[in-house]
Amino acid sequence: MENRTIRKAVIPAAGLGTRFLPATKAVPKELLPIVDTPTIQYIVAEAVAAGVRDVILVVARGKESIVDHFDIAAELEAHLERTGKHELKKQMRSIAQMANVITVRQQEPLGLGHAVLCARDVVGDEPFVVMLGDDVIDAKVPGAKQLADCYARHGLGTVALMEVPREETPMYGIAAGSEIEPRTVRVDRLVEKPKQDPPSNLAVIGRYVLPPRIFQVLEQVHPGVGGEIQLTDALAVLAREEGLLGYRFEGDRYDAGDRLGYLKANLAFALKRPELAGPLRELMKEMSR
Ligand code: G1P
Repeated sequence: MENRTIRKAVIPAAGLGTRFLPATKAVPKELLPIVDTPTIQYIVAEAVAAGVRDVILVVARGKESIVDHFDIAAELEAHLERTGKHELKKQMRSIAQMANVITVRQQEPLGLGHAVLCARDVVGDEPFVVMLGDDVIDAKVPGAKQLADCYARHGLGTVALMEVPREETPMYGIAAGSEIEPRTVRVDRLVEKPKQDPPSNLAVIGRYVLPPRIFQVLEQVHPGVGGEIQLTDALAVLAREEGLLGYRFEGDRYDAGDRLGYLKANLAFALKRPELAGPLRELMKEMSR
């Protein structure tokens, strides 16, 4: 049987983060923290928990500090050592050891599909997972793992799905199809950001486990919505040609690319920290009076 193990993750991180200006003028949006941890670190942790070893960051000029975050910070570690902050030092080192981080450049902003295509040579001939940094998933079984398990069972590309209110369908790739087992849909229609008549209210959320065949398809697709090479359009071709599954994952998803979603993620993650939960609840009570 062909290899169905997911060892590589592609994380597109070349965007300008215009929705978060001015914060993202000099700081990559991927490094904006949820509580005290950059959003991209949550994504990499999820990848690693799904069995990923190689994390391929698709970056652009000005995004070097993302790579630094996953490197050893020798000066910082020496300082933490000198000042007796051993636990913190260990934590900083462990970030550098999470995964093998590889970067490729997307030289022009030609879309999500194009960003994924930039990782082609590094991924090679094996299945992989695409993870979008704006979608933060908090789940007992990590989101990417739920999809990787589905891929291992069926051997078909699998995208994460979530029900959204009808009025939000123009913000997402929307999929429709028939349920073949609990939570699993065989996708027969897929539309990127439908302005009207969405085929369902099942939105594609930023986790995709894909066969290497997707690269050949991406090379062929024409620019779609916004004049960009859309991953969704390539997925629609894949669905027609060999089949594509959607998996309604279990867990909470935060849209960290949206200001309100980002604030919500911060509150939700802070409430999970024992040292912050109590005081934060008090603060929220006080402020909502
Ligand atoms: C991208 C995809 C879209 C998907 C969404 C999930 O859109 O193009 O199909 O539903 O991510 O977050 P973006 O939000 O980057 O515009």
